[in-house]
Amino acid sequence: MPRAIVMRTPGPADVLHLEDVEVGDPGPGQVRIRQTAVGVNFHDIYVRSGLYTTLPLPGIPGVEAAGVVDALGDGVAGLAVGDRVGYITDGYGAYTGARLLDAALAMRLPDSLGDVAAASVLIKGITVEVLLRRVHAVKPGDWILVQAAAGGVGQLLVRWASSIGATVIGTVGSEAKAEIARSAGAAHTILYRDQDVASEVQRITDGRGVDVVYDSVGGDTFDGSLGSLAMLGHLVNFGQSSGPVPPFAVARLSPRSASLTRPMVFHYLADPALRAEMAASLFAALADGTVTAEPARTFPLAEAAAAHAAMESRAVAGAIVLVPDDIDRM
Ligand SMILES: NC(=O)c1ccc[n+]([C@@H]2O[C@H](COP(=O)([O-])OP(=O)(O)OC[C@H]3O[C@@H](n4cnc5c(N)ncnc54)[C@H](OP(=O)(O)O)[C@@H]3O)[C@@H](O)[C@H]2O)c1
Repeated sequence: MPRAIVMRTPGPADVLHLEDVEVGDPGPGQVRIRQTAVGVNFHDIYVRSGLYTTLPLPGIPGVEAAGVVDALGDGVAGLAVGDRVGYITDGYGAYTGARLLDAALAMRLPDSLGDVAAASVLIKGITVEVLLRRVHAVKPGDWILVQAAAGGVGQLLVRWASSIGATVIGTVGSEAKAEIARSAGAAHTILYRDQDVASEVQRITDGRGVDVVYDSVGGDTFDGSLGSLAMLGHLVNFGQSSGPVPPFAVARLSPRSASLTRPMVFHYLADPALRAEMAASLFAALADGTVTAEPARTFPLAEAAAAHAAMESRAVAGAIVLVPDDIDRM
């Protein structure tokens, strides 16, 4: 019997408990996956804390993982037992050693991408693909501000945007993270806990501002993001790691004819053709070195609470991955 992390109530990290779970055989159109690596995302913290109420409780959190197909339901085509796959789902249930999954969500992984690397990069990389190509088409010569540039999404965003030829300014919480953001390709860094972001951006850009801001920090950074925009600039708020953005007067966009969007990657992933296109685009970017899956910090699945605490403490740079240790118990 596999084990999974179950939460019965929202709250602090210690609401996450390891429990035995029944998995059973796959139904029509499903596969069973023996999981080897589970991605931890800030989304999981919103769900665990109760900011998002999208996981029915009791429930198993987690929205992405990698592993091996070990059983096929009726009618599943294009997959075989033994295939290495990864997936993203807004239906949760990823914090587990094994699970059933809609076969249409399973993406066959390239041989060059290990399981931990896949779990560290699938959602984060596809989010970056969406942000740079579909939410705002970044061009060579653009100026970009990336808030939390040393984070899991942040590092990938800096790398990919730099490879397009944009000049990236990255904000970070410490000098050590500034070094990480610079080695990912940021031309400039701002210590946003000590410095005023908008005035630093205006200084670095000689008063022009940036064409686009990618802001996943939310409440603490929104005003600085808005104040960093160039004329006709675009503020993309795609997360709220510091808390939600307070109510906002639309008229605040008019002094620069600015635009504001609030994308969710799951909406782009809902279309199977688009999902396949975005995954292929990420795998190609990984293969040609446009982006790299930096080594993730791993925790045993049983220590999911410690992984959440580490992410919330801001001590970790880059991705966090949980590794189930109960594969032999199935
Ligand atoms: N909209 C979407 O579809 C979508 C998809 C994927 C991810 N996201 C968002 O992208 C963001 C990054 O996700 P991730 O999983 O890669 O996480 P992450 O960036 O690795 O971790 C969050 C980082 O945010 C910074 N931060 C600033 N204020 C914070 C606070 N009060 N508490 C905790 N962290 C704070 C910290 O970096 P510093 O120490 O440098 O400040 C921290 O390391 C999240 O906001 C997530 O919701 C959105």
